[in-house]
Amino acid sequence: MKPKIVVVGSSNTDMVVKVPHIPSPGETIMGADFMTIPGGKGANQAVAAARAGADVTFIACVSDDAFGKKAVENYRKDEIDTSCIKIQPGTHSGIALINVAEDGENSISVAPGANSYLFPEDIQGFEDTFEDAKIVLAQLEVPLETVIAAAEIAHAKGIPFILNPAPGAVISESLLNKVTIITPNETEAAIITGRNNFSEKDIPEMAGEIFDKEGITVLITLGGKGVYLKTFDFEGLIQGYKVKAVDTTAAGDVFNGALAGALAGGMDLYKAVDFAQRAAAISVTRMGAQPSAPKLNEIQNYQF
Ligand code: RIB
Repeated sequence: MKPKIVVVGSSNTDMVVKVPHIPSPGETIMGADFMTIPGGKGANQAVAAARAGADVTFIACVSDDAFGKKAVENYRKDEIDTSCIKIQPGTHSGIALINVAEDGENSISVAPGANSYLFPEDIQGFEDTFEDAKIVLAQLEVPLETVIAAAEIAHAKGIPFILNPAPGAVISESLLNKVTIITPNETEAAIITGRNNFSEKDIPEMAGEIFDKEGITVLITLGGKGVYLKTFDFEGLIQGYKVKAVDTTAAGDVFNGALAGALAGGMDLYKAVDFAQRAAAISVTRMGAQPSAPKLNEIQNYQF
């Protein structure tokens, strides 16, 4: 039987333009290909976890427009349980405008639409679905109170709660003390620890400060360089995998989804981080968010 995880988060459609470089403020540049690709941090993580071998229930909100319908249809193709996806008429489904540059870097703006209508009472209404979950995973692209409601249910039921604090935000102690594992990138870790600027040498200190708040496991993701991990019994860098980046969009999402899937399946943390880094590295060799998430077999056998 596949281990069950619950993902609470956003569903977007990504409007992607390939560009020579990320435009500066006020600059207009001519791009090349345009693509409409399934995305959204929550959905990307749900899809990545499902492909990594988990039985995923996705709690989200889409509109009744064509984008929302297509998104739900796609989740079903990945055998994700979509029974907890709320349909909100009168708004649009989440949209992200994405520039992807030749070196694989990106810039993203999100119009959340229906994602903003996923309320704490919706999560409370779906409480039964958390029952046999091994992990609950959330990000910050839906209202913060909704994430808190999910964390409270997970905490009350003794289910590990992974928070990917993206997009970056200040996080209250009352949320942090319900988190089991937190997975910021460097910028998000700086926001959580109240820094306006930081350099690479600050990473151990930032991990320490977050860890000291509530004793939660801290995983700071550093792109291709790897992951800085701080737990009760380990602290240090776990090396990443070097690949030629085509598109880094959703690499963090694939990392989080695969990590949750691996931990739910009983893998120990160190091995699960390596597994998730393999998945994320594969994803950056391909265009797009959800289309880039690899399946279990590929994660296990990819030759770097
Ligand atoms: O993390 C990448 C995702 O961020 C994109 O798929 C986009 O939809 C935004 O949510």
